[in-house]
Amino acid sequence: AMSLGILASGSGSNFEAIAQRIAEGRLNASIRLMIYNNPDAKAAERADRWQIPKRLLNHREFESREALDQAIVSAFQEQNIEWVVMAGWMRIVTNGLIDAFPGRVLNIHPSLLPSFKGAHAIEQAIAAQVRVTGCTVHRVSLEVDSGPILLQAAVPLLPDDTPDTLHRRIQTQEHQIYPQAIALASLLPIPTE
Ligand code: GAR
Repeated sequence: AMSLGILASGSGSNFEAIAQRIAEGRLNASIRLMIYNNPDAKAAERADRWQIPKRLLNHREFESREALDQAIVSAFQEQNIEWVVMAGWMRIVTNGLIDAFPGRVLNIHPSLLPSFKGAHAIEQAIAAQVRVTGCTVHRVSLEVDSGPILLQAAVPLLPDDTPDTLHRRIQTQEHQIYPQAIALASLLPIPTE
């Protein structure tokens, strides 16, 4: 089974979709630890409900991105975690994290990459008046929201959409493709650069 470490900053719905898929016996994995960075992240409550160990690493208490990532690497390595799953992790990661888990750090992003990178993908898709947007699961590389793509799903942008209604439609797809992409990642060779 794949041993997963989750990184979450917010609501944790992708974490829960993965936990659900594992519980249903449809993803051969176990979640060993969730690390979250915001003390009031709803993701932490979801971890409790699933009885998954969690640890708060508040980035405000670290002196650099590198120091936070080193603490993440240590915590995950202690649990023999092999795959790092960024599920709504709103921090830029450093090579300390990426090098510790080569090809095995995954991220989900609410757009069809390479369109709309960064923290405002949903608002940008609406502003650009695209007809179709979506979500992407990819391996994490140093450049933000880049790295080899594993899976994508397309989602229509409707005339009356607000950021909220569009985000909800995208998240429904995220919850489908993230568990699938995790399984796929374990089957594909690790890309070399
Ligand atoms: C997801 O929609 C994910 O695509 C997005 O945050 C949301 C987290 O939801 N990620 C990013 O914007 C990364 N830059 P969740 O906490 O309910 O899983």
